[in-house]
Amino acid sequence: MNARERERTSHASGAGHGAPASERGEGSDQLLIAIRSAIAASPNANAAMKQTVQLLKDARPHYTWAGIYVMDGDELVLGPFVGKPSPHTRIPLGRGICGAAATEKSTIIVDDVSADPRYLACSIETKSEIVVPIMNGPDVLGEIDIDSDQPAAFGADDRALLEQVAPLLAEALSDR
Ligand code: SME
Repeated sequence: MNARERERTSHASGAGHGAPASERGEGSDQLLIAIRSAIAASPNANAAMKQTVQLLKDARPHYTWAGIYVMDGDELVLGPFVGKPSPHTRIPLGRGICGAAATEKSTIIVDDVSADPRYLACSIETKSEIVVPIMNGPDVLGEIDIDSDQPAAFGADDRALLEQVAPLLAEALSDR
């Protein structure tokens, strides 16, 4: 079932956005609390990012790869990630879905990466992707990048969750 089908199913059953909790793991509120505490307890930004990607991946079975890119000049540099190593450790602003999200300063969801000419392949199994910029006012500090082996895996609930995680990371990245 992809994200849209999950949303339809849950709307029909009156359960709200996303699939039933049993299928999608921990609720977003609990997950946000866990991420907020882990970031607060982290000694530095790197530890905060590492904890965040691990918690996200553990709580969401459809997150096959979860990583954070950090802005360095006009390149995005791969920081902590969970999943297979990516060949794209530095991405110029003009390239990839990652570069596009940083340039547009807004979340990008790609349901079918094979149909998007901007896509830089990380793994042959990846079918869909969501990239959420980490902003400090008008400045892009970095971004959260999640890949899924399921097509159209990301919906409104993932966007809402990750757009609440991004400001927590912005604080961690600008404070330390
Ligand atoms: N797919 C990304 C590159 C990063 S890998 O997914 C880890 C992109 O198109 O920018």
